[in-house]
Amino acid sequence: MPENAEITIRRLGAGDASFARFAIEELFGGSAETEHLASFLEDRSHYLLVAESAGFVNGILLAYRLARIKDEGFKIFLYEIEVDSRRRRKGIGSGLISGILSIGKAEGARSVFGMTGPSYQGAKEFYLATGAEIVGEEEILFEFKL
Ligand SMILES: CC(C)(COP(=O)(O)OP(=O)(O)OC[C@H]1O[C@@H](n2cnc3c(N)ncnc32)[C@H](O)[C@@H]1OP(=O)(O)O)[C@@H](O)C(=O)NCCC(=O)NCCS
Repeated sequence: MPENAEITIRRLGAGDASFARFAIEELFGGSAETEHLASFLEDRSHYLLVAESAGFVNGILLAYRLARIKDEGFKIFLYEIEVDSRRRRKGIGSGLISGILSIGKAEGARSVFGMTGPSYQGAKEFYLATGAEIVGEEEILFEFKL
């Protein structure tokens, strides 16, 4: 990929299922079915953003709209963000964050939030650098295996 190629941040929709499959395999690893991705992306409460340049995918961000129970407001949960390890510290992650924040503002979201931890090296610094506030330092991630 040309070093100075312009980077575009784009939200993928149902028509981008094949490209989404390629992007997910490249950046998140593992595989996804194109048919499943088409219906996943048709749901506008799912946000899949990519950073592209010259036909390459340099970064990806997955987020979900969460409706509030007390009123009609909603927040956006930033579930995953990943930049190609060869392309980090070039502003790509910041571009993806700007992308989801712009969408959130345009749609009327209350906030964009997420969780991270020490195993994600540099992630706290990244979120602070991109304008987030740290609102909890001691949260524990848990899961019920089913
Ligand atoms: C976190 C991640 C998305 C950042 O993407 P990126 O494209 O490298 O980020 P940017 O270039 O936009 O960085 C913006 C600023 O964030 C801060 N930052 C980013 N990565 C950092 C790191 N590893 N250590 C310290 N600060 C960092 C810096 O202030 C940086 O500005 P600078 O390069 O001018 O100093 C990327 O490192 C990544 O994919 N990591 C692996 C996956 C991951 O940890 N995801 C987060 C899970 S919660």
